[in-house]
Amino acid sequence: MWHKDILGAVGNTPLVRINRLATGLPCTLLAKVESFNPGASLKDRIAVVMVEKAEARGDLKPGGTIVEGTSGNTGAGLALVAIAKGYRCICTTTTKQSQEKIDVLEALGAEVVICPNDVDADDPRSYYSVARRLAEETPNAFYMNQYDNLDNTKAHYLTTGPEIWAQTEGKITHLFSGAGTGGTISGIARYLKEQNPSIRVIGVDPFGSLYHKYFHTGEVDMNEIHPYLTEGAGEDIMAKNMDFDLVDDYTRVNDKQTMQMARRLAREEGIFAGQSSGLAVAGTLQWLRAHEASLTANHLAVVILPDSGFRYLRKTYNDDWMREHGLL
Ligand SMILES: Cc1ncc(COP(=O)(O)O)c(C=O)c1O
Repeated sequence: MWHKDILGAVGNTPLVRINRLATGLPCTLLAKVESFNPGASLKDRIAVVMVEKAEARGDLKPGGTIVEGTSGNTGAGLALVAIAKGYRCICTTTTKQSQEKIDVLEALGAEVVICPNDVDADDPRSYYSVARRLAEETPNAFYMNQYDNLDNTKAHYLTTGPEIWAQTEGKITHLFSGAGTGGTISGIARYLKEQNPSIRVIGVDPFGSLYHKYFHTGEVDMNEIHPYLTEGAGEDIMAKNMDFDLVDDYTRVNDKQTMQMARRLAREEGIFAGQSSGLAVAGTLQWLRAHEASLTANHLAVVILPDSGFRYLRKTYNDDWMREHGLL
């Protein structure tokens, strides 16, 4: 059996039990390890679906150009789709993202435009604005817009959610996920709650993002926003893919907890994952330990690990970088 191209290898990622890190917890904790996708992150899933839907609507025509603003992983997924389907791919990203992510985009033939990180989202220099402008200026181009394009959520509703349901034989009771665009948490949560409405969904946010406070107070408080190091998770805009109605609780962790947990995942579980995976696991363990009294051996929690540690070799997995940022 073979795939007709690399896109056939997207999805069907493993679900792996967390052992040492979950010591003492009454319930079982499983991790959905999304680095097994060909572009090494869960964003391959949305790249495939967003492009297929854009083609079906006629927004993207043969020989056209895919344009996206990305922290790196969506760009890698779109670059793979562009190769398989014969499109040009232009990605805007920010100075915050790791060099590894930019190297991957270029290795996969994407054209990369690096924009400043410390400007407002609606500033014409921001990576959101530049992507929008490039899509307007380039003939036969389509701006994918993973923030507000609901095909992002649909991809996880169609693939990640059903995979988790099948892999746990319908026994999942708690889902934990970070959120950037919100596509991952919203898509998986929607599918799982349709199967079993009593499944609890818990979001994990980095300090510096809007979402945690919005969930708990209903207020979009721009004072909450401050720069943080964790890439991919959290947001300084309210993305349309983020559906708070599907989320039951929200917890948050800081950069130090995030980076240290990513390193522990590697050393104690052999799971070499990215920063937002460290964030998700740190938040999961914090929440599960705080709710330990209400948990039993029948509870089954799943946490989403979005990408690979290889994207952060010169950051989280480099002692000098960790020391420089006071994270060790
Ligand atoms: C590394 C990483 N983790 C987590 C996320 C968040 O996933 P979502 O955008 O589906 O909320 C992203 C999104 O950009 C990401 O790049």
